[in-house]
Amino acid sequence: MDSIIIRGGRRLGGEINVQGSKNSSLPILAATVLVKGISVIHNCPYLTDVDAAIEILRHLGCIVKRENHTVTVDSRFVSRYEIPDSLMREMRSSIVFLGSILGRMGQAVLSSPGGCEIGLRPIDLHLSSLRKLGFAIDETGGKISCRKQKTLTEGIISLSFPSVGATENIMLACALSGGRTVILNAAREPEISDLAAFLNSAGCRIEVGSQGTVVIDGVKRAGDCEHTVIPDRIAALTYLCAAGAAGGDILLKNVDFSDFLSVIPVFEAAGCTVQSEKNTVRLMMNDRPKAVRDIRTMPYPGFPTDAQAPVMAMVSIARGTSVIVENIFESRFKHVGELKKMGAKINVEGRVAVIDGVRSLYGAHVESPDLRGGSALVVAGLVAEGITTVGCVSHIDRGYEKIEDCLKSVGADIERQALPDS
Ligand code: UD1
Repeated sequence: MDSIIIRGGRRLGGEINVQGSKNSSLPILAATVLVKGISVIHNCPYLTDVDAAIEILRHLGCIVKRENHTVTVDSRFVSRYEIPDSLMREMRSSIVFLGSILGRMGQAVLSSPGGCEIGLRPIDLHLSSLRKLGFAIDETGGKISCRKQKTLTEGIISLSFPSVGATENIMLACALSGGRTVILNAAREPEISDLAAFLNSAGCRIEVGSQGTVVIDGVKRAGDCEHTVIPDRIAALTYLCAAGAAGGDILLKNVDFSDFLSVIPVFEAAGCTVQSEKNTVRLMMNDRPKAVRDIRTMPYPGFPTDAQAPVMAMVSIARGTSVIVENIFESRFKHVGELKKMGAKINVEGRVAVIDGVRSLYGAHVESPDLRGGSALVVAGLVAEGITTVGCVSHIDRGYEKIEDCLKSVGADIERQALPDS
């Protein structure tokens, strides 16, 4: 398994072209199952989660080609409606295939996605919504079997929490239904609008309102389409944290500044100067960060749970005490133990982390506990004295395309060490 080796202490300077969004690419790839034709998807990043989604598509009968960052999916001959356990386990967000297989085939059989590194990821909202829309669901023997019982006509689903995955599954299951489905308290993440834009480019009729309402007018058929995936706002935020921690001046290209409105104040409070135009963000930092008192992860447009770990790494060297409250996932502080190995002073009680900033971190051998936790350790390594070795890089590769090359291009002393599997 690969490791990332970082010699910390270098200021960062230069430009990074930010990759396409992981959290958009995966539901969009799942959505290609609905298309009785060819989907051309641009700006699709090279990630192991994308590889896993492509494997599932091939298993279902799609022909998938990949050239640079363009993935072409021919879904005319989808022939299967079940996903075996081995493929489901490859990727946490495989559950979003439930809606698209149901929408295309009228039935789906998937294994239950169990707990994961960041805590249980229940799917009760996905399943209760689908039941309400008229799907019969059986959950026995570790499998979820879903079947359409009648033609879907009208339906209103009011989610008790704006779950991203549940919103996507309902959109996918209903895009080809007979009537109108309205989701209230739907997730408002930009990736939801991107999924709708992809489906609409294939002939679907989905309107995403700004206040958490999604209206799906079912159509009979989705056909050939072409779409460009939005930029990855979380990868972008991770690189901003890297420059905020290590100091320097970096320009991120291929971003959408409006995605960052809730997080820019955090960087400004930490002492960074942030300048933006529509598709670029520049961050300048000449000092040790200042503490940020109160960061609370919330559904979009609030502070994203995915940015919590890298921001924690940045403020671990701040002057003063920072507080982070994780409201989305109950077990998303696994990086704390690893940051402590590097000298960070962090106390966690329940959902609250109190970070007493230290003057400097020091290099250590640490292990990525999960995707964003792993990226936090890379951020910490950039600022630590000495050499940091981050193991279990496979977690990071799920969501960051060549993180070491991006950071090297802005001056970091970082490299990947490929180790033979033992
Ligand atoms: C979450 C994030 C999303 C991020 C993604 C990848 C939020 C609101 N969602 O989406 O921005 O891109 O992780 O890291 O920040 N829940 C239930 N029952 C369900 C579904 C969810 O109780 O059926 C709970 C979860 O336990 C969790 C919360 O709702 O506490 C967030 O879930 P959801 O938005 O569905 O998670 P993801 O789709 O993974």
